[in-house]
Amino acid sequence: MRRTKVLRDLVRETDLAPSHLVQPLFVVTGEGVREEVPSMPGVERLSISELVAEGTELQAAGIGSVVLFGIPSEKDEAGSGAYDPEGVVQLGVRALKEAHPDLVVITDVCMCEYTSHGHCGVVRDGEVDNDLTIELLAKTAISHADAGADVVAPSDMMDGRVGAIRSQLDDEGHSSVPIIAYSAKYASAYYGPFREAAESTPEFGDRRGYQMDPANAREGVREAELDLAEGADVVMVKPATPYLDVIRRVKDATGAPVAAFQVSGEYAMLKAAARNGWIDEGRAVLETLTSIRRAGADLVLTYYAKDAATWL
Ligand code: PBG
Ligand code: ZN
Repeated sequence: MRRTKVLRDLVRETDLAPSHLVQPLFVVTGEGVREEVPSMPGVERLSISELVAEGTELQAAGIGSVVLFGIPSEKDEAGSGAYDPEGVVQLGVRALKEAHPDLVVITDVCMCEYTSHGHCGVVRDGEVDNDLTIELLAKTAISHADAGADVVAPSDMMDGRVGAIRSQLDDEGHSSVPIIAYSAKYASAYYGPFREAAESTPEFGDRRGYQMDPANAREGVREAELDLAEGADVVMVKPATPYLDVIRRVKDATGAPVAAFQVSGEYAMLKAAARNGWIDEGRAVLETLTSIRRAGADLVLTYYAKDAATWL
């Protein structure tokens, strides 16, 4: 059954299509800005007009969904740019939805891009205060939904944030806005290039007090189950490739829609090897994305979304 392509296609177990992929985009303030992230060749920070133009290209390539990360011009202790109705993401969502009503716009809900210290929440006595933070995360999610976001995706890893966001979305007239929860998000070295892109490296300490220990898989399942009980519609595992076993376990245990995030460091490794001529980029990327789907991911967030759609 492997002799020809038609025979192979008859028994192929896993499919990979542009409809499974979500393109992450970085939004910045300013006019006509398109600046490449040094550790992520091919990925650019975009100001709003460029973001809208990128939306056109993505849709033409067959990519129907994006996830937005905002990089504000100013950061403060309270991360107030995160829930500013005129903040960079809120403006980006409005412009994108106005120009491309059919494009699914997912927003990343977190504070680390907006806090001066780079942590994912409000810091009290040198530590992130969980319960104060979830109030601000809910406020952030509401401001995204008010701006027109189709889906909100909390990535902070505070306890109880999915429940808080769900109940406040419902109270504020956004009961049909779903939540993609970053449920099993590991404290990973693979976020390095993202932190360069978002200027969100913690000023002190690290994120191990709230992100998961890479050694724990059962805990990843438990986190996903808790988020589902709090009202998550989709649970996410992140990073993707080093955690394929966790994707499989979460899928089998919950049966819920599972997302996987092929993160910045995974992108950077593939890109570096490809640029050196050491691997065939298109084949390696499609093989990796197929592996993530084979492990059980329904949707995949990947900086390679647009390229992969072209290669497919
Ligand atoms: C922040 C956030 C991170 C990513 C998405 N949201 C990084 C972090 O925790 O520092 C990682 C994305 C990537 O590396 O591509 N909450
Ligand atoms: Zn964060």
